Amino acid sequence: AKATKPIMSSTVTPVDATIDTVTDGPLFPSNLISPEVISQLPTDYTIRPMRRSDYNRGYLDVLRVLTTVGDISEEAWNQRYDWITSRNDEYYMLVICDGADQVVGTGSLIVERKFIHSLGMVGHIEDIAVEKHQQGKKLGLRIIQALDYVAAQVGCYKSILDCSEVNEGFYVKCGFKRAGLEMAHYY
Ligand code: ACO
Repeated sequence: AKATKPIMSSTVTPVDATIDTVTDGPLFPSNLISPEVISQLPTDYTIRPMRRSDYNRGYLDVLRVLTTVGDISEEAWNQRYDWITSRNDEYYMLVICDGADQVVGTGSLIVERKFIHSLGMVGHIEDIAVEKHQQGKKLGLRIIQALDYVAAQVGCYKSILDCSEVNEGFYVKCGFKRAGLEMAHYY
């Protein structure tokens, strides 16, 4: 039969219409984003699971406030993104975007499945970064609260992270406490 109706209803906003959910959908289910955190963001800011197209929204530049990132082509990004997507019950990476739809903050939760503690699951919080000019607006706090929510929802019994002394106060404000000692062996 011939289609008589337009494929897209006029109520769909242009922004929604540009999301290709097959190749550019959310890395993990959007209902794992805490509604409370969403409601506490500054006006026009959004928090959501990472998407492939975040390459073009300045994701890597935000990470550069944290450490060296290197020169990563879109092709190399896509390859790594595909690998992460294939493990999206283990890698939970989210972003905060500003009103101009640029990434201004990010954070990752990596979920480790253990044998101990009755097959317990531990969240590892990694690579928290807020763009320099956006720091001090509680975006870092919201990223941690959002990752904590994901960790609890997927069944982690705790989340842990490593940080420098400089950032200890930030994580204390986020509800973490000093536990143990980090050691490293570089290769
Ligand atoms: N020391 C003490 N307190 C701090 C610090 C700090 N370094 N940074 C923020 N705070 C406090 C704030 O004053 C605020 O306190 P308040 O509630 O009393 O007002 C509270 O912590 C929340 O601060 P936010 O505004 O949410 O912090 P921000 O958005 O600036 O993000 C972050 C903090 C992520 C550390 C940011 O400064 C950043 O990106 N820094 C560079 C990259 C970095 O070091 N990332 C962390 C690496 S460790 C890891 O990834 C596991």
